[in-house]
Amino acid sequence: MLRVVVLVSGGGTNLQALIDGVQSGRIEDAQIVGVISNNAGAFALERARRAGIPGFCVSPKEYAERAEFHRALLEKLAGLEPDLIVLAGFLVNIPPEMVQTYRGRIINIHPSLIPSFCGKGYYGLKVHEAALARGVKVTGATVHVVDEGTDTGRILLQKAVEVKEGDTPEILQRRVMEEAEWQILPEAVARIAKGELL
Ligand code: GAR
Repeated sequence: MLRVVVLVSGGGTNLQALIDGVQSGRIEDAQIVGVISNNAGAFALERARRAGIPGFCVSPKEYAERAEFHRALLEKLAGLEPDLIVLAGFLVNIPPEMVQTYRGRIINIHPSLIPSFCGKGYYGLKVHEAALARGVKVTGATVHVVDEGTDTGRILLQKAVEVKEGDTPEILQRRVMEEAEWQILPEAVARIAKGELL
């Protein structure tokens, strides 16, 4: 049984896709053993609660030093003994020690076709604003391995999504989530649980 810990910051729709995947049997031999948020008010924590999954808040605001926050996050993770860590809209830079400790076992979902619209400053709605500003006709989502860089790790899965006339960043974000993110993130976890992909 693959022990999965999901890190979140906000609404948690990608977390929900994973919860649904486990509950429906689309993801087999995996269990979400904990959800960690940097934000106590994240609706993602409510989704975890409703699914009976232990949820925790480890917020940088509660620590005077960044290093203390990093230590607290690593301690919380260690206690959950994860085989796989999923960054599902976790909008905080993760500590390099975390990459070292769990090398090759951390994956991230990014809402563009990497290497477009990724790296520092490209997160959430900003990614879709940039895609629309550039006028691309196709965008999408990427699941990749997390290394020390920002969105630089090995690409595992990608799915393309059409940009349509009249799209706003919000409309495009929703389409990318529905057609790509909520498909490829559960698929990645399902395949990793089968010993594939990673
Ligand atoms: C998702 O679109 C995810 O791809 C993005 O944040 C959103 C979180 O939504 N992540 C990044 O931009 C990471 N660079 P959710 O909380 O509803 O899953």
